[in-house]
Amino acid sequence: MSAVTTPSADALAQLTPVLTKRWLSPEAWRLEVYETLDGYAALRKALAAHPDDLIQLVKDSGLRGRGGAGFPAGMKWGFIPQEPDGQQPSKPHYLVVNADEGEPGTCKDLPLMMTDPHSLIEGIIIASYAIRAHQAFIYVRGEAVHAARRLRHAVAEARRAGYLGRNILDSGFDLDVVVHSGAGAYICGEETALLDSLEGFRGQPRLRPPFPATHGLYASPTVVNNVETIATVPYIVLGGSQWFRSMGTEKSPGPKIFSVSGRVNNPGQYECALGTTLRQLIELAGGMQDGHRLRFWTPGGSSTPLLTDEHLDVPMDFEGMMAAGTLLGTTAVQVFSDADCPVYAAYRWMEFYHHESCGKCTPCREGNYWMKQVLWRILTGRGTHEDLDTLLDACDNLLGRAFCALGDGAAAPVMSSIQYFKQDYLDYIEGRTAPMFAPDPEAEALVGAYR
Ligand SMILES: Cc1cc2nc3c(=O)[nH]c(=O)nc-3n(C[C@H](O)[C@H](O)[C@H](O)COP(=O)(O)O)c2cc1C
Ligand code: SF4
Repeated sequence: MSAVTTPSADALAQLTPVLTKRWLSPEAWRLEVYETLDGYAALRKALAAHPDDLIQLVKDSGLRGRGGAGFPAGMKWGFIPQEPDGQQPSKPHYLVVNADEGEPGTCKDLPLMMTDPHSLIEGIIIASYAIRAHQAFIYVRGEAVHAARRLRHAVAEARRAGYLGRNILDSGFDLDVVVHSGAGAYICGEETALLDSLEGFRGQPRLRPPFPATHGLYASPTVVNNVETIATVPYIVLGGSQWFRSMGTEKSPGPKIFSVSGRVNNPGQYECALGTTLRQLIELAGGMQDGHRLRFWTPGGSSTPLLTDEHLDVPMDFEGMMAAGTLLGTTAVQVFSDADCPVYAAYRWMEFYHHESCGKCTPCREGNYWMKQVLWRILTGRGTHEDLDTLLDACDNLLGRAFCALGDGAAAPVMSSIQYFKQDYLDYIEGRTAPMFAPDPEAEALVGAYR
């Protein structure tokens, strides 16, 4: 890969500025600016439609959740039990927007909420109307004080203008939105832990079934969707499902915000159609930094298995990534070069997972702790060949066996780095690579372990 490249026509053709189209307009976060840029036009159209038709529209569009798992949004909305028209539901329905965004490398929802908060609020009103919810919540990551402040300001603006509150735009529909700040725990991004946290409990995943669609917030029917998922809805209402399907691939349609970070010249958010390749994204991000060659990368944050330079041309959609042995995740593309050590990267991620494990189940609570120890032993030049087996064994006990998907995510960097970069591990173990750190016996004696 050359050091600096100009975006090719091919790469630019992938650009579909839909979700980010207002990002460069000055003060687009203010209601009056938003209204001049198509703002709340989709809401007017939606409120004139039957809620079931909106659910069908989102189903037809093929919109898949943007929070990592890619579950079809319309289908999720359709799981909310509905009473016949005019009849009150026995329990309230809730919409909860997941704005926790704690996955390492993921940084798309924060800029969206900062630059274009009303697109999220407009999406929330439409989605709530569709599922017959009269109360919605936005659960914002605790550290993102600036985003919570901006959202609260936007909610107040929308309420004053009659987009929220009672009898919205004379439609007879009522909705209120609460912006709730979490306390900065990665596990609170997992939807059921989020619901516990929102209810005031310690955020730990719930046993499923029952699922949130029937027993969610306060044991009531609840839809939990990612910020980008909900912010996409107004464009579908305005443009229609066929327009939406004209971007992306058959099973993964639509535009997507890719967060490109690492050894590229211009890291940042790049909105492209799903199915764009890493080669095109690196071109859009100004090419690799001088003197750096791509060595490994994550397609969607640290929980998605690493890929290598063999995978430059694999389409980045849900299917393409799965066929390559990884996951699309949150499209947080972290680019590493030959100056970066995959063993050290795995160690740093394991520090994160060990710290963020909620401790509810043994494979994750203990496995991450021990994997971190073993990786440290290897990086300090004390590793053995058995350590590789120990790591893979711990991953085997995590993958598909932990209580929630944090466990699968923790196994991903270790397993994939051993799959593609076993030689790097062996070089530490067999003394060809100098230890990255000196052992620290004093600190190790204090904690009774390697570190
Ligand atoms: C440990 C963990 C952290 C998660 N963090 C987030 C997050 O910060 N934001 C998010 O939207 N989804 C997150 N998810 C996924 C959610 O559980 C859920 O699938 C998602 O919010 C559903 O929204 P979507 O269907 O719109 O993608 C996380 C999952 C796990 C296991
Ligand atoms: S896998 Fe980890 S984070 Fe998830 S419930 Fe178990 S201990 Fe908690």
